[in-house]
Amino acid sequence: MFINKDVESILVSENELREIVARLAGEIDADYKDKDLMMIGVLKGSVLFMADLMKAMEKDFSIDFVVVSSYENGTESSGRVNVLKDVSQSVEGKDLLIVEDIIDSGNTLNFLVQYFNAKKAKSVKIVTLFDKPDRRQVEIPVDYVGKVIPDVFIVGYGLDYSEKYRTLPYVGILKHEIYS
Ligand code: PRP
Repeated sequence: MFINKDVESILVSENELREIVARLAGEIDADYKDKDLMMIGVLKGSVLFMADLMKAMEKDFSIDFVVVSSYENGTESSGRVNVLKDVSQSVEGKDLLIVEDIIDSGNTLNFLVQYFNAKKAKSVKIVTLFDKPDRRQVEIPVDYVGKVIPDVFIVGYGLDYSEKYRTLPYVGILKHEIYS
């Protein structure tokens, strides 16, 4: 298989990604059977994961997207979260599932959960493809986790470094010299 020259090694293969997504889709389908589910993707990192997750689910549901920013082009979370693009419909009374590619410091999701609760969602839960617990600054309950990963710099399947590598079909560890 073709591996990008800036990737040191593959952390999660396409096959493993498919298995993770299928498992999460089954869990969410079962839990939201009788609920008015709206999935809210946090752009841009979640885009490939969310697309595959939606296709793997049986249940019909509505979707929307937000764009938030906390990194301000660095690799460390600034802790301040700004909404750059809001949802385009009311979330009042809806069972929301926020879809993320990764939880790192926890600042983004901590903010979004409060943000949607304030907009009177009926419930707000979280699904994340990856969880990096070693980097957590704020503790938040995460309802569905694809895979817990160590503190390595990963790219691909939606995840970027300086807006590059998002379109790789696998998740790879970026060579240190690229970001140091
Ligand atoms: C990434 C990721 C999460 C957030 C997680 O987004 O998609 O939204 O950081 O980090 P945190 O737990 O420390 O808040 P990023 O700001 O890089 O934007 P992107 O999704 O467009 O890549």
